[in-house]
Amino acid sequence: MSSRNTSVAVHRGALLHFLHDPGDGSDPGAYEYFSDGLLVIASGRIVACGPAAALLATLPDSVPVTEHRDGLMVPGFVDSHVHYPQTEVIGSSGRQLLDWLEDYVFPAEARFDDAGHAGSVASACIDELLRNGTTSALVFGTVHRQSVDAFFGVAAQRRMRMVCGKVLMDRNCPDDLRDSAASGDDDSRALIERWHRRDRLHYAITPRFAATSSAPQLIAAGRLAAEFPDTLIHSHVAENLAEIAWVRELFPDARSYLDVYERFGLLRERAVYAHCIHFDEADRRRMVSTGAAAAFCPTSNLFLGSGLFNLDASDAFGMRYALATDVGGGTSFGMLQTMLAAYQVAQLQQQRLHPLRAFYLATLGGARILGLDDRIGSFRSGREADFVVLDLAATPLIARRCGAARTIAEQLMVLITLGDDRAVRETFILGQPAKPRLPR
Ligand code: GUN
Ligand code: ZN
Repeated sequence: MSSRNTSVAVHRGALLHFLHDPGDGSDPGAYEYFSDGLLVIASGRIVACGPAAALLATLPDSVPVTEHRDGLMVPGFVDSHVHYPQTEVIGSSGRQLLDWLEDYVFPAEARFDDAGHAGSVASACIDELLRNGTTSALVFGTVHRQSVDAFFGVAAQRRMRMVCGKVLMDRNCPDDLRDSAASGDDDSRALIERWHRRDRLHYAITPRFAATSSAPQLIAAGRLAAEFPDTLIHSHVAENLAEIAWVRELFPDARSYLDVYERFGLLRERAVYAHCIHFDEADRRRMVSTGAAAAFCPTSNLFLGSGLFNLDASDAFGMRYALATDVGGGTSFGMLQTMLAAYQVAQLQQQRLHPLRAFYLATLGGARILGLDDRIGSFRSGREADFVVLDLAATPLIARRCGAARTIAEQLMVLITLGDDRAVRETFILGQPAKPRLPR
């Protein structure tokens, strides 16, 4: 490496990233872990990662090294399903999905016709994501086109790789949140033109769920998805039993809730469906054969009483999934807390979520289902240098437990169990520190 390259940055500390899904944790080829590792970055990209002693010998003495004592470097977390406007709703209790949408979500989303409000909530949401170590996300806006302009504007300013879309919703919703098949299509096209593949931004075609879109709107969404195959598709499916019964009434010819989307051409690679709880065998097979993937939202599924995502049944078919917060149904922006809830959901079903796999599902697994793993989600060379330094001594108890841990898996489980935003010491975007500091 040239010593004249002044943009080279070197970070030293423990380091973990994934090459494949580690499954039950028994495959050492699925990940790289160095207890004393080095991450070498140039111009915002990963140049190399490896054991510190070996890599330092290849670098000129003059290169400054940032030491992360008691730090564990991992790729930035990827939240594969979150509603930025629902930053205003998190912690609204007492209802299951359909009542909760009416009572809390729709009134809060109605305020996003105001671009100023949208900008301020987008900024607050992105602060929360970064504070929790999340550097990329698949994000719902509201039905208002300006809500997406606001979100992408803030994400571009922070130089983040982000995916967002305008909600399509032309029936079964309040008047002030309703578009039409034609206006939803026009607005989506305008937003794709303005934002898709600009800077680090990507567009997601975003029908809210089958219950709030007419057949003509879903036809238009399917057409758009075929016309722009590198956009994402983002929606909800099979979350709540009352919701499923309602969709059955609205689309009596469909074999299942998921089948509604398939009939309209909305299952394909880069299609991400939140929840996927109440699936049968045929649904799981259709997810796999079409290339669609699930966002597993454990804190939301517990908070709204929706049900337990079945990890083993999904794995049995090879159905792809990754972790997501689903704020504001979800109870935290933190992927560490989300991993703990995922672990608990597995436990309740006598299933196992290995701590290495939990970290995979929050990093490379998320990048994969978003179709972005060639850019983010690991420390392979050439990837963008979005990463997090976790603090193995963030609190006295974490320090005590991590100090006693014998393996990286044991340390990860301590972080999962006890960690929150205090355990995220720093978040880097393209190699630059980006964790917002709390006001003193
Ligand atoms: N289904 C349709 N809209 C929503 C939403 O905003 N949150 C959740 N959790 N499920 C939905
Ligand atoms: Zn959601």
